[in-house]
Amino acid sequence: MATMLHPVESRADPLDVSRAELYRDDIWHDPFRTLRATAPVHRVEDSSYGAYWSISAYKPIIEIESLPEIFSSEAGGITIADFIESDDTVKMPMFIAMDRPKHTGQRRTVAPAFTPSEMVRMSDDIRRRTGEILDGLPWGEEFDWVDRVSIELTTQMLAILFDFPWEDRRKLTFWSDWAGDIELVKDESKRAERLGYMYECGAYFKKLWDQKVGQPPTPDLISMMIHSDAMREMDHLEFLGNLILLIVGGNDTTRNTMTGLVYALDKFPDSRAKLEADPSLIGNTVQEIIRWQTPLAHMRRTATQDAIVGGQQIRAGEKLILWYLSANRDESVFEDADTLLVDRPNARRHLAFGHGIHRCVGARLAELQIATLLEEMAKRRMRVNVMREPQRVAQCFVHGYKSLPVTLSKY
Ligand code: HEM
Repeated sequence: MATMLHPVESRADPLDVSRAELYRDDIWHDPFRTLRATAPVHRVEDSSYGAYWSISAYKPIIEIESLPEIFSSEAGGITIADFIESDDTVKMPMFIAMDRPKHTGQRRTVAPAFTPSEMVRMSDDIRRRTGEILDGLPWGEEFDWVDRVSIELTTQMLAILFDFPWEDRRKLTFWSDWAGDIELVKDESKRAERLGYMYECGAYFKKLWDQKVGQPPTPDLISMMIHSDAMREMDHLEFLGNLILLIVGGNDTTRNTMTGLVYALDKFPDSRAKLEADPSLIGNTVQEIIRWQTPLAHMRRTATQDAIVGGQQIRAGEKLILWYLSANRDESVFEDADTLLVDRPNARRHLAFGHGIHRCVGARLAELQIATLLEEMAKRRMRVNVMREPQRVAQCFVHGYKSLPVTLSKY
């Protein structure tokens, strides 16, 4: 009878790394280590997301992302769950889930918001807001780093990028959390609830959009999209899809890296001591923290034709999951890969931003925000002490934290 009640658990493939509990309990390291050593291109026949190929090593991920015509982002979307980009009742196309040539035009629309000169323009503002948030923290008293720092900083940044009403900015966090939760695929009523919030988000942005149509251009993403050629060809749902992409892309990822940096520096005190003694290591530390955290555990591709990867026969239509989380712990590329080394010589080679034509368009902005946070902490000689284990996000796409109790001390 017990097995009847738990059919999925009883069948569970120990190498099915899509299981939410691996991430909730932070026990994904061993199964990925086994996969990399024994089956870097591995077929899982039966998971709660259906059959998939698990690509867990660095080299085959680069190989697959270098062939976007064969391994499509559009054919099945970008996560292991089929519903995130398309639902039975509504399609919200996003350029992260498009192939060439459409992808090229739409990416070009938002890329100017992330050029080096835009980063210079935004940097003073990012520094001021980061300083203000750090100066508002209580010393010698426990608080949640996720809520007080990571969410606040990333949400403020997005509000500025979109010229979004300041007092409503936490809505961005709320919508982003719902949009990025792939576990919802398994619950019909939650799916419907999620869709409701996506419509609410769409209606809110439509209002902002209407206020800017026919107005002179302003340096925010909505205005940039309105005034671009590619945008003129986008319909309403495409516009909404791309906004949600930017909200989710810029939100959970940077937020979880900002929490990961506190957690990792506390866990690896030798690295922390080196960084505290030498702030010139901050640039490399940013790369190393993004590698170590890997805030998006995977992206997905779908084969458009039969192909061989890592000696395995992939058939047209099959789903391939590219585990960046595992590639970034690949010992053949990163020595002592599970350890955070602030002076790691090749930290920059990480795959957390992906590779190829879809490589993260917001990478520079994420790096700037994280570097600024580390610099402002260093200026204040602020050490963040982790009081207990964090509460983690229980799913295999967004790799992050719900809360992290900390206290502050000086070094
Ligand atoms: C694409 C990771 C920050 C916007 C991606 C991809 C990854 C990623 C893995 C997909 C690559 C692929 O499919 O090959 C991250 C990480 C971040 C971060 C780890 C922070 C540490 C941001 C920020 C923004 C952003 C701050 C914008 C505000 C996007 C967009 C795409 C994307 C629009 C789609 C690019 C395309 O399809 O051409 N990101 N991201 N991301 N990201 Fe990020």
